[in-house]
Amino acid sequence: MIVLGIESSCDETGVAIYDTEAGLLSDKLYSQVAMHAEYGGVVPELASRDHIRKLLPLVRESVSEAGLSMEQLEGIAYTSGPGLIGALMVGASVGRTLAWGLGIPALAVHHMEGHLLAPMLEDNAPEFPFVALLVSGGHTLLVEVKGFGEYVILGESLDDAVGEAFDKTAKMLGLSYPGGPELAKLAEQGNPSEIKFPRPMVNRPGLDFSFSGLKTSALHAWQKSSGTEEAKADIAYAFQEAVVETLAIKCERALTQTGFDRLIIAGGVGANKRLRERLNELKAEVFFPRQQFCTDNGAMIAYAGALRLAAGQFEPTTISPQPRWSLETLTPLKQAV
Ligand code: KG4
Ligand code: ZN
Repeated sequence: MIVLGIESSCDETGVAIYDTEAGLLSDKLYSQVAMHAEYGGVVPELASRDHIRKLLPLVRESVSEAGLSMEQLEGIAYTSGPGLIGALMVGASVGRTLAWGLGIPALAVHHMEGHLLAPMLEDNAPEFPFVALLVSGGHTLLVEVKGFGEYVILGESLDDAVGEAFDKTAKMLGLSYPGGPELAKLAEQGNPSEIKFPRPMVNRPGLDFSFSGLKTSALHAWQKSSGTEEAKADIAYAFQEAVVETLAIKCERALTQTGFDRLIIAGGVGANKRLRERLNELKAEVFFPRQQFCTDNGAMIAYAGALRLAAGQFEPTTISPQPRWSLETLTPLKQAV
């Protein structure tokens, strides 16, 4: 089944085509980062408007890159949440309207399921079951994944998501948006013996996280510092180490708790080199998607949607009054609310 995937939940317009037989046929991305950089963060209304401008041209490019015509598409999958409502509305409206026009099924995809399944796009795809660490700008989740669509959340952040903590700390240090990759780059020049931040919540049982305290530790260290570039790099190093070590400890705990021996990492922060290095030291088979599939992309949505659509799931795309309609097929009101 040939499925077009649309991602527009935040500041990236992603469009891709996945064929359940031939694999990924095309993958297009337009990043709005330069536009939001001026404001130091994502401006939701500007994001929605830019998705409107870029989405249809990207759909055309994607279809032509795959060597297809629009009529050869057999399904459309679009990110339906979580994300910015205006941005999501653009992808959902375009996705459903195209599907309606082409007379093919459409399906709403959960953005985090997309991230979680992204390692499946690689040659060495993990088998189920596994533990997933999802680390993005909006989420920090440890998930027990028994199968496709069988998810149990083992732990999550009680305050800032990891990506958010990276971005806020980077902003405080005067780095440009988006701060995560900038802070990671600066950390490479840091002196390991200079500062050490606490590893939040590792001494408590459980698998939840808290990262907002770490941001405050970084702020205090910055206020006490000499304000030099070296001091900045030392703080970046200490911050990244504390985050990475905390994530590694919780991943190890989740593997022990579930008895699973496979771990996958996905979401934007999964692109972090130091995190990859540290998690590869764990006694488990560790899987990462390639860097461009860690951050938001259309391929992960096309993939998740294609498998669900191929299994027969879809949303009705037509307006269908029923000339014959049994009274007995109505849903009881109690169940509906
Ligand atoms: O998954 P994603 O692209 O978008 C969301 O769904 O949130 O994740 C974006 C987040 C941002 O907070 C960004 O700063 C962070 O991922 N990020 C990184 C790195 N690359 C992206 N954080 C640390 N190190 C990186 N190399
Ligand atoms: Zn994401």
